[in-house]
Amino acid sequence: MEANTKTKEFLALAAQAAREAGDYAFAINRSELQITTKTNAMDIVTEVDKRNEDVIRATVLARYPDHEFLGEESADTSPKSDRNDIVRWIVDPIDGTVNYAHGLPIWCVSVGVEVNGRVECGAIYNPSIGEMFTAQRGHGSYLNGKRLHVSLQTNPAQSLFVTGFPYNVNEDPEHVIEQFVKFLRQGLLVRRLGSAALDLAYVAAGRFDGFWEIGLSPWDTSAGQLMVREAGGRVTHYDGSDYNVHRKSIVATSGVHHEMIMRVIKEGQTQANQ
Ligand code: IPD
Ligand code: CA
Ligand code: CA
Repeated sequence: MEANTKTKEFLALAAQAAREAGDYAFAINRSELQITTKTNAMDIVTEVDKRNEDVIRATVLARYPDHEFLGEESADTSPKSDRNDIVRWIVDPIDGTVNYAHGLPIWCVSVGVEVNGRVECGAIYNPSIGEMFTAQRGHGSYLNGKRLHVSLQTNPAQSLFVTGFPYNVNEDPEHVIEQFVKFLRQGLLVRRLGSAALDLAYVAAGRFDGFWEIGLSPWDTSAGQLMVREAGGRVTHYDGSDYNVHRKSIVATSGVHHEMIMRVIKEGQTQANQ
């Protein structure tokens, strides 16, 4: 089968799996959630995160038994091989679990599909407001079927930025607090939503002009980084190198304010080290 047709099939399944998992989670009564902690008291997980991941894995592997699966809540138990056509599904069963557990409608299910180490397509679904973001490499990004383009805003004062913090922000190992302060002191408008996948989808949709964060994992960014690129934006690491989902830092912008964001991050870092 032709690669493009295959990728289209993957995207259809990614969107279907994200929609089913998101709608399931949305229907759950908040008071019934069972919450446990992971790396520290702030880093929580619900049984819905785990159930969603199990269901998405089962759905994907039932259709494509030889594909690999990388999900946040489980070890990667899928078959490994040295073939050069490896397809890996990278899944965050709920991105924004803290928001979800508090009843805030800012969370989503994110599914990215990587072929030979490169993300080819992805879907991000926010059931609370019925928004399905999709992207396919070379074919653009869409919100509920409508083509997306990043923001065209050139004035930093009229732009809106977003960032996120790792669960160990109180220890501030990467100087994210100094960096955040630096942005505020520049007079920039900055939000913190609590869902990295939605942050990226919103850059693609032109709602945000730029996003930066450190300490993320492939499941947070695989679908969203492709969405930004396919909507005409730029995605790199803090040092400006081409973004790779397996590395930790990310800057994703419309392109206009990319250098400025990298400069402010660097200044925050330097200041913290003085
Ligand atoms: C988190 C969210 C949050 C980001 C954290 C992530 P989770 O994912 O994406 O916005 O700041 O770094 O870990 O735990 O809700 O899946
Ligand atoms: Ca996440
Ligand atoms: Ca998660």
